[in-house]
Amino acid sequence: MFTSKRVVITGAASGIGLATALAFARQGARLFLVDIDQVQLDAAATEARKHTADVHVFRCDLTSPEQVGQLKEELLSRMEGMDILFNNAGIGASGALTADIEEDEFTSVMAVNVVAVWRMMKLAISLMLEQGGGVIINTASALSITVMPGSAAYNASKHAVAALTKTATTEYAQQNIRINAICPGVIRTALLAARPDIKELEPQLLALHPIGRLGNVEEVAEAVVWLASDKASFVHGALFTVDGGWTAS
Ligand code: NAI
Repeated sequence: MFTSKRVVITGAASGIGLATALAFARQGARLFLVDIDQVQLDAAATEARKHTADVHVFRCDLTSPEQVGQLKEELLSRMEGMDILFNNAGIGASGALTADIEEDEFTSVMAVNVVAVWRMMKLAISLMLEQGGGVIINTASALSITVMPGSAAYNASKHAVAALTKTATTEYAQQNIRINAICPGVIRTALLAARPDIKELEPQLLALHPIGRLGNVEEVAEAVVWLASDKASFVHGALFTVDGGWTAS
């Protein structure tokens, strides 16, 4: 379904990004995989090449405007543009209550989860306007719709991703750019494992999901691939939940 489509994925070295890269690879997409972690990125590319021939990697800290500028040059020289952006890289937070969050933590979460997401949207939209269209899927969260205590910076960042998604949809839908956000519930990935309070947190997280379990990365990847496809042609500006019923309850 995606043969010869140029798909750029950020945060592609791990978790949801990696699973989605492999899902697109299985459908013949041309991939441009971006992450800050070179070693895991190379491993991801090796996996993806088992399914599709055209796989490029670019190590990039998305919080750096200069590095994202280089990303654009590399992308243009290797693929001459992009048809689909899965704007997915993100980081979690420590679990501190609002008044206990350190300045550095708050600004880092915003730098990766909001500013870098906007920076990649800006890059993608400018290329897609020149090309005559494209698809963007931002990784938001169930925490773009509801909130969790001990996650103020993360909650705020993911609500901002929802706002960026909806705003850009209203601005560019008529230029054939389809922009949506995927809103996963809790998915077992490195980001979750990195929470210092994960042991105490896990039973509380389980209780949030009416389905009675956490999600897995493939369940998110399948939804992203569908959202990126022409089958989702009338889906614009959605906060598309894949959350085991969390935000419905
Ligand atoms: P992950 O930690 O497995 O993957 C995130 C990737 O982003 C990593 O490979 C990391 O190296 C990369 N990354 C982080 N900072 C970067 C930077 N400055 N520049 C370039 N790459 C960078 O985590 P996961 O869970 O797969 O997260 C992917 C997205 O899904 C994130 O936006 C996260 O907020 C979101 N999400 C995750 C949920 C979960 O329960 N795991 C639930 C809802 C949303």
